[in-house]
Amino acid sequence: MRVLHIVGARPNFMKLAPVHRALQQRPNCEQLVVHTGQHYDFNMSDVFFQELGISAPDVNLGVGSASHAQQTAQIMASFEPVLLEHRPDIVLVYGDVNSTVATALVCAKLGIRVAHVEAGLRSFDRSMPEEINRLITDQLADLLFTPSEDGDANLAKEGVSPERVHLVGNVMIDTLVRMLPNSDKLRPKDLPKRYVLMTMHRPSNVDDPEWLKCLLKTLGEISSDIEVLFPVHPRTRERIQKLNLNGTGKIHWMDPASYLLFLSLQKNATVVVTDSGGIQEETTFLGVPCLTMRENTERPITVTMGTNRLVGRDFGKLRAELRYVLDGKAKKGQVPPLWDGNAATRIADVLCNLN
Ligand code: UD1
Repeated sequence: MRVLHIVGARPNFMKLAPVHRALQQRPNCEQLVVHTGQHYDFNMSDVFFQELGISAPDVNLGVGSASHAQQTAQIMASFEPVLLEHRPDIVLVYGDVNSTVATALVCAKLGIRVAHVEAGLRSFDRSMPEEINRLITDQLADLLFTPSEDGDANLAKEGVSPERVHLVGNVMIDTLVRMLPNSDKLRPKDLPKRYVLMTMHRPSNVDDPEWLKCLLKTLGEISSDIEVLFPVHPRTRERIQKLNLNGTGKIHWMDPASYLLFLSLQKNATVVVTDSGGIQEETTFLGVPCLTMRENTERPITVTMGTNRLVGRDFGKLRAELRYVLDGKAKKGQVPPLWDGNAATRIADVLCNLN
């Protein structure tokens, strides 16, 4: 069997790693990795390949940054000849980024089977670019690998036939389980005892200048109570620089962190404040309190079972929830079923039994 994997943006790499490893152990399975180049900075891409032990991509489409339509179109146009040249039996796409939907569409048009890893998640908020990507990719995919039961329920409501859907668990957690023992290798020596770990990059949080100003002001205020560590996504850095905002208070600004460094920062954090998707899952697994600055989540199991709380765009709520955590009253969570480090093995089992 010839399997072609598509990755493009930071959150894809930790999902590719375990599936690639699991398939390596299967006989007669040839694998090819195509990187679209959606993320291209060393610390947004290469460092993850190094730390996670994935060999360099076989093909890099080198598309880079552009508007959504341009980026999606460029990925489609440059992927089509690669697909025609290699003619895989199946293409694996991961998560909800533009690279995922663009390549799934090319495969569907050429009649090449697509499997979507991390299928079925829904925020029910179509103002999020990722929600559009999720909806379309799941309609196009021949095989859908879901991380939790809510995914299966969403797909059933959308008319996806159940024989295409496989509940396998969470591949991102596979990587976390494997890497956790190494995570303290990169633990900074001067890490504070108690700190808030902050990440923020969604358009809804960083593209509105007034909102971004308020966010930084609030962070500055929080940092007089507890230290704030903030690895800054390039998109956020660009917005902050454009507005000439320096932020107030004692925020520790950092470059985007590598996988192991970020894992160590999460594991040791008092609380994580984020708008990321994957971090809601990782904190749930680690049992670290997470406050998500979004009105909704496509990962509701992290709220119903895990340590996640949605605080929306409400600074009063953020402060109140932070106080709650700092007073030792954080919500205790549980690890969802099948988030056990073996999701990729279950994916490999399904793929190897295909006709
Ligand atoms: C993308 C994904 C988002 C994911 C995030 C993780 C989509 C629609 N969004 O958002 O779901 O959570 O990745 O990071 O696919 N840039 C750099 N260097 C890079 C990459 C980006 O400087 O290596 C800057 C560019 O200015 C670019 C901006 O970041 O314009 C945004 O990058 P883009 O890939 O368009 O989206 P993300 O915000 O990273």
